[in-house]
Amino acid sequence: MNVGSAPTVVIGAGGHALSVIDALRADTRYTPVAALDIDARRWGAKIAGVPILGGDALLARLIRQGVRHFAVGVGGIADNAPRRAAFERAIAAGLIGVPLVHPSAILAEDLRIGPASFIGPGAIVNGGVRIGRNTIVNTGAIVEHDVRLGDHVHVASGAVICGGVQVGVGAHIGAGATVRQYLRIGAGALVALGSAVVAPVGSRAAVGGVPARPIQTARKAKS
Ligand SMILES: CC(C)(COP(=O)(O)OP(=O)(O)OC[C@H]1O[C@@H](n2cnc3c(N)ncnc32)[C@H](O)[C@@H]1OP(=O)(O)O)[C@@H](O)C(=O)NCCC(=O)NCCS
Repeated sequence: MNVGSAPTVVIGAGGHALSVIDALRADTRYTPVAALDIDARRWGAKIAGVPILGGDALLARLIRQGVRHFAVGVGGIADNAPRRAAFERAIAAGLIGVPLVHPSAILAEDLRIGPASFIGPGAIVNGGVRIGRNTIVNTGAIVEHDVRLGDHVHVASGAVICGGVQVGVGAHIGAGATVRQYLRIGAGALVALGSAVVAPVGSRAAVGGVPARPIQTARKAKS
């Protein structure tokens, strides 16, 4: 462990946790010391060398041992509610969410990013962007100037959010999708992977295709 580096717990030990642990290790201010997961089958294993100690019941013990910071290791392939729940459990326990940026991301100087949000490898975020809490801008995504991303949003890998777009709480923008400039994407909306969004998307709506049209999915949208 780096001397003076804050011990940090990773909440959720799925695939996204690998990216989060990588970014934590690249940031000398934090050291990932433990992961927690609601799936008991993962307990006792390690993820990227970090022990998965157990479930959230261990949060209090980790805090007593000096852990003050957390990162969210839950991603989301369409539904951001599990990641939101993980964030809220950690906040309720009194922990501080670490905003994490992979060192290969390219960011404008004026970026404002909320606690526990994550910007992945190779992502580009341009000027005037505001990112809320617990939001992911994943690998290689492009977030253009003046975009607003609400809390618990996932801009998945390779998506392009053109300038001035507003994305509501908990919305998912699928991998490789593109959203036309200055549109509004409602809270809890789902944009399917590879879509071209050329019109506003309502709250909890699901759209897909080129151009994007309403689709029926198995997912129950939540915001
Ligand atoms: C939209 C999505 C959630 C649908 O998954 P699903 O609930 O399992 O639904 P299905 O695959 O059964 O598709 C339901 C309908 O939507 C259509 N559809 C699914 N994905 C689509 C897409 N990307 N573009 C256009 N239409 C799509 C299907 O053709 C189907 O249409 P039909 O009812 O006319 O047959 C999924 O395709 C998706 O895009 N997930 C996002 C993945 C992602 O971003 N991962 C990133 C991880 S970093």
